[in-house]
Amino acid sequence: MKGIILAGGTGSRLAPMTKVTNKHLLPVYHQPMVMYPLQMLMRGGIKDIMIVSGKGHAGHFLELLGSGNSLGIRLSYAVQEKAGGISEALSLTEDFADEESVAVALGDNIFEHDPDMSDFSSGARIFVKEVSDPERFGVADLNGDKVVSIEEKPRTPKSQYAVSGFYMYDTTVFDKIRKTSPSERGELEITDVNNMYISDGKMEARTVEGFWTDAGTIESLYRASTLVKNSHLHEI
Ligand code: DAU
Repeated sequence: MKGIILAGGTGSRLAPMTKVTNKHLLPVYHQPMVMYPLQMLMRGGIKDIMIVSGKGHAGHFLELLGSGNSLGIRLSYAVQEKAGGISEALSLTEDFADEESVAVALGDNIFEHDPDMSDFSSGARIFVKEVSDPERFGVADLNGDKVVSIEEKPRTPKSQYAVSGFYMYDTTVFDKIRKTSPSERGELEITDVNNMYISDGKMEARTVEGFWTDAGTIESLYRASTLVKNSHLHEI
């Protein structure tokens, strides 16, 4: 299994900080944001990890993490020229994945407890969490523990279950991305890819244990620091 951290996008919601560095390098309590998904993948036993960043300040990732040698892992880098969406960023990792399954973490998502990465062989696995503001996220319509469909930022959500930013995919993910087209916001949506796995009957949903937050807005960045400070994560 290869690991992928998606750290593209413009970070416009965190301007002006993102004028001078990449959003995923801003501090969340005691360390840069990208360290959380990176450490999560490492704890899952993944040693070969690609970071996809946007063009702006991409060199700052190298300055922070280098080859990964000092962390005992191998890091590779790719640059997404424009913020064409999460799926587009993921499509850049096809050669790196080299026919292996991938564990994909959004660079601005922080999990208190690691999602269960074990025993994954094929299809896809997502992790959902009941939240009070589902309209900010991909929202899963569930029937028991089966996902019926996912809607991206619906005005009237069918449930309170947000789809978190950690996904596991088999090698068919890249063909699926090729079959999608840009949404109204001009992005290749990961939700469209997830819905293809659902139609194929190949999607498994698990629940997120503990807190989960993104950190891509002023409010959520602040909340993320507070959550980390009050959890075991600040000791890592
Ligand atoms: O946080 C979880 C949510 O993330 C999911 O519930 C949604 O289904 C999913 O679409 C996504 O929603 P957002 O609209 O909040 O994602 P955002 O545009 O903030 O991007 C999240 C991360 O994905 C960002 O930190 C870096 C990466 N990304 C995003 C875009 C648009 C890229 O690498 N490239 C991109 O072009």
